[in-house]
Amino acid sequence: MEFSEVIDRRRSVRHLNAKLAVSDEDVQALLEAAVAAPTAGNIQPWRFFVVRSADARERLAAALHQRWAAAAPLVIVVAVDPRPCAARYGDRGEYLYSIQDTAAAAENILLAAVDRGLASCWIGAFDEGLVSEAIGAVQPITPIAVLPIGYSAESAGRPARRPLEEVTTWL
Ligand SMILES: Cc1cc2nc3c(=O)[nH]c(=O)nc-3n(C[C@H](O)[C@H](O)[C@H](O)COP(=O)(O)O)c2cc1C
Repeated sequence: MEFSEVIDRRRSVRHLNAKLAVSDEDVQALLEAAVAAPTAGNIQPWRFFVVRSADARERLAAALHQRWAAAAPLVIVVAVDPRPCAARYGDRGEYLYSIQDTAAAAENILLAAVDRGLASCWIGAFDEGLVSEAIGAVQPITPIAVLPIGYSAESAGRPARRPLEEVTTWL
């Protein structure tokens, strides 16, 4: 798929086909896309939890309080270990770069999913403690984004964007 088409087609899809599995090859491609993202100082503080078993997916969906996510045949939880960022860059590394690094990885996963005919939605509204418990993440490793992934069972329209003139300053 052309890159511009990937950008244009990506939507937050919240109805996924529970019966169609995501192949191992696709999972591998999504993870490789994730780690192709840039990170401050190439520290790569990310951790990925690949959730595929029915038990784990159910536990995770309950922790999220977003039941629709239980239908996803695959969930990738993008998490961060902020320690190496803090050690190299202090507070800015711990609170900003570590989040930016993992957000870039999450976006790469969303785009790679579209490229492979899959759909996803970035979930950020969750209780960190409950999600950590559901996936077995131990502090200070912290979940940043939960990405349910599968084949779309909806045709989502394109949500409006604020006009570029409103959000852009030209100097
Ligand atoms: C940081 C972040 C957190 C989000 N959290 C949620 C969420 O908890 N639940 C949800 O259904 N969508 C969530 N979304 C998806 C947004 O609602 C969605 O991106 C936005 O409405 C624009 O729609 P689009 O992605 O289809 O362009 C989140 C997106 C981002 C970037």
